[in-house]
Amino acid sequence: MKSLPKKNLSDVLKKEVDRIDSVKTTKRNELVIEGFVHEKGRAPVALVHGKKHAVFNSNDYLGLRHHPQVKEAEHAASQKYGTGPGAVRFISGTMDIHRALEKELASFHGKEDAMIFSSSFAVNLAVLHCFIKGQSKDSLVESNTLVISDALNHRSIIDGIRVAGLSKEHKAIFKHLDLDDLRRVLDENKGKFSRVLVVTDGVFSMLGEYQDLKKMQSVCDEFADDYEEGVLTFVDDAHGVAGFGKTGRGTEEHCSAKVDILIATMGKGFGADGGYVAGDKVYIDYLRESAATYIYSNPISPGTAGAALSSVKIMGSSEGKALLDQLNNNIVYFKEAMKNNGFTFAADSEHGIQPILIGDPVKTRELVDELFSEGIIVTNISYPVVPKGKDEIRVQISAAHTHIDLEECIEKFKVCGKKVGVI
Ligand SMILES: Cc1ncc(COP(=O)(O)O)c(C=O)c1O
Repeated sequence: MKSLPKKNLSDVLKKEVDRIDSVKTTKRNELVIEGFVHEKGRAPVALVHGKKHAVFNSNDYLGLRHHPQVKEAEHAASQKYGTGPGAVRFISGTMDIHRALEKELASFHGKEDAMIFSSSFAVNLAVLHCFIKGQSKDSLVESNTLVISDALNHRSIIDGIRVAGLSKEHKAIFKHLDLDDLRRVLDENKGKFSRVLVVTDGVFSMLGEYQDLKKMQSVCDEFADDYEEGVLTFVDDAHGVAGFGKTGRGTEEHCSAKVDILIATMGKGFGADGGYVAGDKVYIDYLRESAATYIYSNPISPGTAGAALSSVKIMGSSEGKALLDQLNNNIVYFKEAMKNNGFTFAADSEHGIQPILIGDPVKTRELVDELFSEGIIVTNISYPVVPKGKDEIRVQISAAHTHIDLEECIEKFKVCGKKVGVI
């Protein structure tokens, strides 16, 4: 029997769940995938309720999560080191495969060092905190920091800034992708702070747009001497790395830019799991001493590290380049065919994220449901995630999609789109 106070709390929580259900923003009724079927000439298809479904909403932009070499590397590492890390890194959880992966990631990005975490959400929570504030009362890292964040940054960045507990005047937002607005903020705050962190996503996941990092760097450079400890660029390129840029180095590469602190995930284009930060050695040394979600939380398992290491090596090889070329060909083909069928895009994305503008929440839902019943999985994105009237279906293209997969998806969009009345 529950005590009355606990029952009261349960009632409050139940009401909140009911409220979420009533505004139809529920997230807990997730699609359950029972396995994947591998058929010749097709990307792996997901089994849902025993029925095959083509996956057009995964971040596995290069198909690496089903790559035989990556799976073998995961298996081999589990055999060698066991399935779990055993402890946090500084107790007994650091294995040479963790170190090897960090070295490979640093070299892949042309940075001095890199450091892996259990997720890139965990990276943002800790790393922002560490660069904004010292981690203990004895820390030598003072905190007269201004954080300037793009208006549409990912939730993990927003929470990272929140966790640092800055007062209002230490936080600013620049208009989404508006680097003249960033310049305005930097100009207005000259002389007020010793350090500035300019924080942004590389590729933004709702529309597949990207921050012009070259321009961002040059705006920051204009103010290099106005802040005693400089203006640091801090970029989370979770969707960019291993999916964008000529050789998959992400938005930095696409824009021919170099950022100070690069954050990314191994759970999207690399087809594995976990997050990392890459930058100057002194930054990484400091973070190994201070980042709470690194020090007090397990690293990724050795098997996952083995898989990720294998993926990074593939990315650095001619096979990685061929996968990227395939991805880009697939993107161009899909966009062209969808436009020819009368669909419009919410943005002209060059990335695997392809946002199809529907503009009405009911029709968007209906079309996603129709496509699902036809064996195609795509994502419905509606208000409040996007503004009212900008409801979209997010399609995510992968190098693993074959011509047959793309043709089938495009044809089903056409048939279902007509049925729902959006084309
Ligand atoms: C920009 C960005 N940062 C961080 C994350 C979180 O990645 P992870 O799953 O590695 O925590 C995501 C994933 O949605 C993302 O899009």
